[in-house]
Amino acid sequence: MVQLLPSLYFLEFKHGEPWIAVMLLAVAIRALLRMRRAKAAKDKLAHVADNDKAKPQPFEMPVPPPYPNWSLETTKPLPYRAFRYGPKYNVTMGLRSVPPTEWIELDNRYSKYHADKARRLLERGSKCVKTAPEAYPAAMELLQELTDYLPARYPSLYKRTAVGIDNLWSGESLNITEVPLREDPMAMCSRLVQDDLALMIEQPDGQYRLLAGAILLAGFWRLSDKFGMTLSNIHTSGDVPHFKERLESGMMKFFQRLRCDTFYARNNYFIQVDDELPWSPSIGGEDEPVVSWGTAEKNKAIDHHFFRSERQTLRRLPKTGAICFTIRTYFLPVTEIAQEDCVPGRLASAIRSWDDWVGTYKGREKYGEILLEYLDRKHEEQLQRGLDVDKVENSRGYPW
Ligand code: HEM
Repeated sequence: MVQLLPSLYFLEFKHGEPWIAVMLLAVAIRALLRMRRAKAAKDKLAHVADNDKAKPQPFEMPVPPPYPNWSLETTKPLPYRAFRYGPKYNVTMGLRSVPPTEWIELDNRYSKYHADKARRLLERGSKCVKTAPEAYPAAMELLQELTDYLPARYPSLYKRTAVGIDNLWSGESLNITEVPLREDPMAMCSRLVQDDLALMIEQPDGQYRLLAGAILLAGFWRLSDKFGMTLSNIHTSGDVPHFKERLESGMMKFFQRLRCDTFYARNNYFIQVDDELPWSPSIGGEDEPVVSWGTAEKNKAIDHHFFRSERQTLRRLPKTGAICFTIRTYFLPVTEIAQEDCVPGRLASAIRSWDDWVGTYKGREKYGEILLEYLDRKHEEQLQRGLDVDKVENSRGYPW
């Protein structure tokens, strides 16, 4: 427009025909309005394209093949050792895509997880499990998905029935068609897997909120603290290191764009100085108003050090568009994993690579001395007996 004005001025005064200038001005204004409308429509389209991810999508979960040779007695937990050599610990989203057929992992720790969950559902109920009314359809969709997936993947443990699913080991029979259901759908989902489960629901402002969860074995955080929060608040309230500068915008985009047909996983790891899987009492009682590493006893003997690693998955449910976040914790004594080739050396290097913020978040001050001394000693022993570090490390890839 601004560029057109000198030419209009020229037409009017050079040729003395103001009507030409007026006509051209009208044409220019129309063109401008058209451009604006086109841009608004394009912006709206882009918004709809993003938001469409949260609307029903034509995706059907493939029927998974049975997990190879799966047995409740003999299938060991997968040996995730998701830590890297230093010198620098990089805070990244660390997501990788995984085949939908590998959504849920079960193994011979199942019975302990199942019993811990059953006890906590009884003792702690809605502190650990909750579904907001607006998340109920998503929770039902998750229950339906698990009821279809698990019997196909773990046929020696689960059987699909006309009304739901039977647990062939525990004798439980879940009816998912009853109205009302016998318990919260998230509690029913939770009894079926070793994972903790969360559903993130998109809000009209584009933010995702935690509106349904069964968080029974999380160790360091409580559903009651985070329920209803946005993805950002969940992380900033826990002072997750470098969240604002390294994670937030990537996570927002990831959530907006996640498609139903692509599943993702990430792994993390922590050290815990007690052996309780569901809740780590070292950071304070589960019902204390505030919990923190500050309360933990310093320099406990190495037998009290445990390695905790989560395999988390993210997928979008096709009917409701909710994002399902699963958190499976693998929990082992440090003294056990330190027997594995290269693990003590790599873990020690990883712990030394944490910056102060990461170190504070992970409680290093309370166990660093004892743990590093132990890991260094174990590493030295492995070198003494002739371990070829490069050879072993080159044969493995993250997260193993
Ligand atoms: C792209 C997805 C996500 C990424 C990259 C991510 C990343 C992280 C990171 C880096 C941490 C610090 C501990 C660690 O190293 O894992 C963390 C902590 C945490 N995340 Fe996430 N997260 C994601 C999704 C979610 C979702 C969907 C929830 C919903 C429940 C969630 C809940 C939490 C909680 C509760 C903590 C602990 C916070 C605390 O210490 O208070 N995260 N997350």
